Amino acid sequence: MATVKENLQRAIELIDSDTPRLDLEVLLCHLLGKSRAWLYTWPEQLLNDDQQAEFEQLLKRRVAGEPVAHLTGSREFWSLPFKVNRSTLIPRPDTEVLVETVLSLCPQESARLLDLGTGTGAIALALASEKKHWQITAVDTMPAAVALAEENRDALGLGNVHILQSDWFSALADATFDVIVSNPPYIDTQDPHLREGDVRFEPVSALVAGEKGLADIRTIAAQASGHLSENGLLLVEHGWEQGKAVRELFSEYGYNNVETRRDYAGRDRITLGRI
Ligand SMILES: C[S@@+](CC[C@H](N)C(=O)[O-])C[C@H]1O[C@@H](n2cnc3c(N)ncnc32)[C@H](O)[C@@H]1O
Repeated sequence: MATVKENLQRAIELIDSDTPRLDLEVLLCHLLGKSRAWLYTWPEQLLNDDQQAEFEQLLKRRVAGEPVAHLTGSREFWSLPFKVNRSTLIPRPDTEVLVETVLSLCPQESARLLDLGTGTGAIALALASEKKHWQITAVDTMPAAVALAEENRDALGLGNVHILQSDWFSALADATFDVIVSNPPYIDTQDPHLREGDVRFEPVSALVAGEKGLADIRTIAAQASGHLSENGLLLVEHGWEQGKAVRELFSEYGYNNVETRRDYAGRDRITLGRI
């Protein structure tokens, strides 16, 4: 039998991660049903046989590179708990910049918003938690992602979000929105980062796009103008090296006041424009 502290000390050497201690603490908290504060308060607590066996299983999978969020089945986004699985992207902190930008540009209490490629529902549900009277529609092309987003919506009790399966705008007929947001796939098929870290366990359908990662952003920019109300706003997340290319795409498709906002690390991350 080993204590919390002994398990942490032994396992930390085994994990190839930027945040090995945090990863292990999160796994132990998940396993023991306790907070990180509890781990710090009771480092001498012994794991029982079942807990130790389960920890060994989790550790083995983490050593093999599986994302912590897949091992615990959840990830926090916008301070809300989201269920995650292999059907879509694990929500990233950088995407909170998109939520913040929408909220700062759209203070009104009523609006119709569309989230394209909703995945877990992270963006749509974060916005719904702040704007109870907005009518929010969220779509994804993957049925398993649609089911996951619906599960998260129901668990969070956010009734103002309508979720449906759609290949971008295909199931939306001639519906119009005041705001359209998207964090679409934007990684180039040849990007070597696809062979590193968490993305190895996330689906290609959530990550990769043709035209050096810009194909889906082009489709969205081309089609969104037909679904935006007058002075409507389009915002997309993209890679930090894609700001200039996305601004050019937005201008090509007739958007005005096009600008790029940066993430917490000061890198280009979101481009927006009005129609
Ligand atoms: C980068 S993930 C973003 C997930 C989520 N919005 C987030 O920010 O965490 C892109 C999402 O777009 C979805 N997607 C890919 N192609 C699509 C398409 N043609 N129509 C609708 N959704 C699509 C994927 O299934 C995936 O869930």
